[in-house]
Amino acid sequence: MKRYLTGIKPTGRAHIGNYFGAIKPAIEFSKQQDAENFYFIADYHALTTLQNKEDMIEYTYEIACTWLACGLDPNKVVFYRQSDVPEVFELNWILNNVTPKGLMNRAHAYKAIVERNAEAGVTVDEGVNMGLYNYPILMASDIMLLDADCVPIGLDQKQHLEIARDICHNFNLKYGNILKEPQYYIEDNTCTLLGLDGRKMSKSYNNTIPLFCDEKTLQKTINRIVTDSSLPTDPKPLDCVINKLYKLFASESEQKVMDEKLSTGIGWGDAKKELYRVMNEYIAPMRTKYDYYMSHRDEVDKILEDGAVKARKIATKTLQRVRKAIGVN
Ligand code: TRP
Repeated sequence: MKRYLTGIKPTGRAHIGNYFGAIKPAIEFSKQQDAENFYFIADYHALTTLQNKEDMIEYTYEIACTWLACGLDPNKVVFYRQSDVPEVFELNWILNNVTPKGLMNRAHAYKAIVERNAEAGVTVDEGVNMGLYNYPILMASDIMLLDADCVPIGLDQKQHLEIARDICHNFNLKYGNILKEPQYYIEDNTCTLLGLDGRKMSKSYNNTIPLFCDEKTLQKTINRIVTDSSLPTDPKPLDCVINKLYKLFASESEQKVMDEKLSTGIGWGDAKKELYRVMNEYIAPMRTKYDYYMSHRDEVDKILEDGAVKARKIATKTLQRVRKAIGVN
């Protein structure tokens, strides 16, 4: 039985790029046989930048409800909140002491800020708090605390996993083979979605389509997709943004019909209407679940609390082993 673990940062409303790029593959991944899955909400990682009480509460529920609505099965996945497992901080402190400071200096996220500051001519550590600086050590703690065999991640997290493995190695070199060295698995999601303006769908471009919003908002958002001024009777390119999005939500026969209409000529307005129809049909059942969970927060709390109990069972054992190894027990 292999144990998979991954963290999900609560960073605001999910968009359909997040859904196809991260949420859907991770949920499908959790359905494989002979595997134990631990997925947690990394609220204390979010704290490095998310420093507002209301947003922290809201984003945490939003992300939990999103994953549940998209099909995360709490019977198949131990789903918990990082902040409900305080053991992570004891391990975090211990691992601080086998982590060379230079390793943190080289972490991409920190280095990027330092370089930006240098270019802007301000002090290099401007805007860097210690949480941000130590972020990779907390990640290593999340992983090793649960004895994870493998961590499924996106490519952007690869360096963090290399760092976690380094930290594990340093600890084991000193104290014996105590911590499990985590492998990682990079989701091969070549699926980069295009946003409303034809660039990559990303919050920083403000061109996203929210996964869960009311129907009117969805319709309005789709209407904002940038098109050209060709006439309804003009043929349209099959690789236009509308058609690319359409293919994610439509059945094969619907896709064929749309391809045909585009080649022979269809007004952009009608194409958008048709995109809205299939998208809404696909999302509606999940949206209903999302709205249900968002208005039954006690049920979400219960799921996360149950998850934390299971996670802590493993966490306390790991910590006992570690404490004994370093001589504090
Ligand atoms: N840093 C990850 C992200 O930004 C989230 C995360 C926190 C994580 N702890 C983790 C991922 C442990 C994998 C394993 O998405």
